[in-house]
This record gives sequence, structure tokens and C-alpha cells, in this order.
Amino acid sequence: MEKQRIGIIGAGNMAEALIHGMITSMRFSSQRILVSNRSNRQRLEHLAEKYKVVGTSKKDLVEQSDVIVLAMKPQDLFSVIEEIKEWMRPEQLCISIAAGVDMASIQRASGLELSIVRAMPNTSAKVLCSATAIAKGENATEEQMELARKIFSCVGTVREVEEEQMDVVTGLSGSGPAYVYSFLEAMIDGGHRLGLSQKESTELVLQTLRGAVEMMTATGMKPAELSQQICSPNGTTVAGLAVLRQNHFKESVMEAIKAATLRSKELRKSVQS
Ligand SMILES: NC(=O)c1ccc[n+]([C@@H]2O[C@H](COP(=O)([O-])OP(=O)(O)OC[C@H]3O[C@@H](n4cnc5c(N)ncnc54)[C@H](OP(=O)(O)O)[C@@H]3O)[C@@H](O)[C@H]2O)c1
Repeated sequence: MEKQRIGIIGAGNMAEALIHGMITSMRFSSQRILVSNRSNRQRLEHLAEKYKVVGTSKKDLVEQSDVIVLAMKPQDLFSVIEEIKEWMRPEQLCISIAAGVDMASIQRASGLELSIVRAMPNTSAKVLCSATAIAKGENATEEQMELARKIFSCVGTVREVEEEQMDVVTGLSGSGPAYVYSFLEAMIDGGHRLGLSQKESTELVLQTLRGAVEMMTATGMKPAELSQQICSPNGTTVAGLAVLRQNHFKESVMEAIKAATLRSKELRKSVQS
């Protein structure tokens, strides 16, 4: 069991996913997880009741925590920093999951030499399958990074990146689940239109996706190699892939990631200006 107290400011979707993951992992005790929000008391009571965590004020949370997780929307982050900076201590670790807010801006807003780690989990954290990227701030120690890894590994995998890569991470794994849902929807509807029930098509598609992910993970092979293995000359897969190629499937997906990455850069500028 970790002995540090983790204080989460913001009691929304991502906060709940983190609380759920930390408690399920049994690495963090619920009594050492504190949570606070702006005004929704019912929500705090709900989390306290369901996970036995401590719902409290921001002041108590900041004064009692070793780690402060900033889990509010980006546009709310700076007013929270303004409010809590007088209670913050230099030895605390501050983890921000706010999309598009860089660590230098948090540092500037606080006027303190904070140890900061920036994290970008994704929505699959809810089912403990997030692909989370974390970036180390200049004052954060290796021990603090290790603690951040421990926290986010409770909700999935953790990969360390440079902060400059956070916009790409946002466009790729942050928004990524939505691209996969679009692909899943297209496959399910494709099967349904050609005679399968919605249920049959959904089951077959979900297992096809699971199997493909598992094949790539287990074999370590590249997607193109695995795809090649399914293709026999003039066969069905070749016919299907030819249509995807004609319709610029790969280029479309790559363009989607680029558009989301650019949007992340634009939003970053608007949040910080
Ligand atoms: N959801 C995702 O999949 C995802 C993925 C990656 C990153 N993120 C990032 O995670 C952050 C949280 O997202 P979310 O989806 O969990 O948001 P959310 O469900 O809208 O929750 C936001 C929380 O912030 C609280 N809050 C707002 N202003 C506050 C203040 N001044 N003081 C204290 N608490 C305040 C709100 O409290 P009240 O309800 O009392 O107003 C609410 O509990 C965002 O920055 C987002 O960019 C989310």
C-alpha cells in the first residue's frame, strides 16, 4: 500500500475513473484519497459513499495531500491554482490531467517552484484500459515520476513522453477511442446491412477487434505483415482491402490524427492566452 495521500481536485468522470482504479488495484487506501470539487456536494457525497474516499474542502485537501491531481476542465484550472497556491508546499507533487495546459503555465500561475507531472489519460480509464502518457516537469524527481506511473498504471498502461509530444498524444490516444468507435460502427453496420442481426454483427466485430489486437501484441508483428497473412491472391480480403485503399482509408485516419493534433495546439493557445 502506498503511504502518500492523493488529493484530487475535480470530482468528475476522470476523477472517478482514477479513484476506482486506485482502489481496485489495492495499492492505494481509500482513506488516503481525498477529493474536492467546486459546488456539487451530492457528487462528493456519492464518491465518498461509493469508494469510502474523503470528500473535503480544497484547503484541507491541499494541506493534507502529498500529491495534488488537477482534474478539472482546462478553463477552470487557473482559477483553482489562484485559489490553492497559498496552501501549496514545494515538496508536493502536482499532477495535471487538464488537456492542453502546459506545465510552464501552471508554474507561472502558481508563482511557486512546483514539481509537476502532466498526464493525458483517455476515456478507457473507466474500464481500467487507458493508454496514458505522462511528461516530467523540470522540478519533478524520479521518485515523483514513479509515483505518477503507479497512479496511472491503476487505470491502464503508462508511457513517458516529452511534454512537446502531448498534442500528438491528445490527437492519437486521447481522441483515439472515438476513431475506433467510428470504425467499429462502420463494420457493425456493414455486417448488418448484408443480413446479420445487429447483435450478431456486434459480437463478431468486437471479437475480431480483440483478436487482431491480441495477434499484434502476442506476435510483435507489424499490422501490414499480419494483414498480408490473411490475403490470398484474388481472395476475399484482397477485394475488401482494395476498396479501403481506393477510398483512402489510411490517409483519412492519418489526417484525422493530424487535425486533432492541430486542434489541441490551437486550444492550448486559447486556454493559455
Ligand atoms: N474525460 C476524459 O476522457 C479525459 C481524458 C483525458 C483528459 N481529461 C481531462 O480531465 C479533466 C477532467 O475531465 P472530466 O471529464 O473528468 O471533467 P468533468 O466530469 O466535467 O468534471 C470536472 C470537475 O471539475 C470540478 N471543478 C470545476 N471547477 C472547479 C473549481 N473551481 N474548484 C474545484 N473543482 C472544480 C467540477 O466540480 P463541480 O461539479 O462542483 O462544478 C467537476 O467535479 C479535463 O481537464 C480533461 O481535459 C479527460
